Amino acid sequence: MKLFIDTADIKEIRRAKELGILDGVTTNPTLVSRIGRPYREVLVEVAKEVDGPVSAEVISTDYDGMVKEARELAKIRDNINIKIPLIEEGLRAVRTLSSEKIKTNVTLCFNSIQALMAAKAGATFISPFIGRLDDIASEGMEVVEEIATIYANYGFNTEIIVASIRNPLHIKHAALIGADIATIPFDVFQKIIKHPLTDIGIARFIEDYKKIPK
Ligand code: G3P
Repeated sequence: MKLFIDTADIKEIRRAKELGILDGVTTNPTLVSRIGRPYREVLVEVAKEVDGPVSAEVISTDYDGMVKEARELAKIRDNINIKIPLIEEGLRAVRTLSSEKIKTNVTLCFNSIQALMAAKAGATFISPFIGRLDDIASEGMEVVEEIATIYANYGFNTEIIVASIRNPLHIKHAALIGADIATIPFDVFQKIIKHPLTDIGIARFIEDYKKIPK
């Protein structure tokens, strides 16, 4: 399973990188807005920081606008893939970009039929937003399960990025389903490593070591 970080904050990316388990980065306009610097400037910085895939999202919602923006964003670095919203014009844009070998991450996916359409359009990645479904009392992880089954049934190569992750259980369930990737906010990244019994265990070993005759 690949682990991406869901942030545009270079400090968070560097901390996750130091762990030696970071495979890529996803951003979106909301995440970039928190940095307080120009959109492209932030994306250039992020793309240079990691070798793995980095998602950069288009702002347009019409076919021509999305394709134009995507071509510009793809020039930033060859690890950039383009986040395209899961709408009709978006799928058309994905087909065009895919024929130009520009990688895409189809975003704002909320059900498995949408994900089927994205795969057929040639999406490199599909991003089901599970946290936002859970927020409205809909089972986000069921959508991931369905997408995994549908993609396996037909041999689609589109990789599933479990997105809008809110807690460590989301990552556990994504891994049990066999999702290709989880994109994780920095605070959740920290939570998945920690366990109170590990900390208690370390403290006890240190105390007991002191009792060993020197
Ligand atoms: O990768 C998508 C993610 O950024 C959306 O997360 O928490 O805004 O639903 P959230």
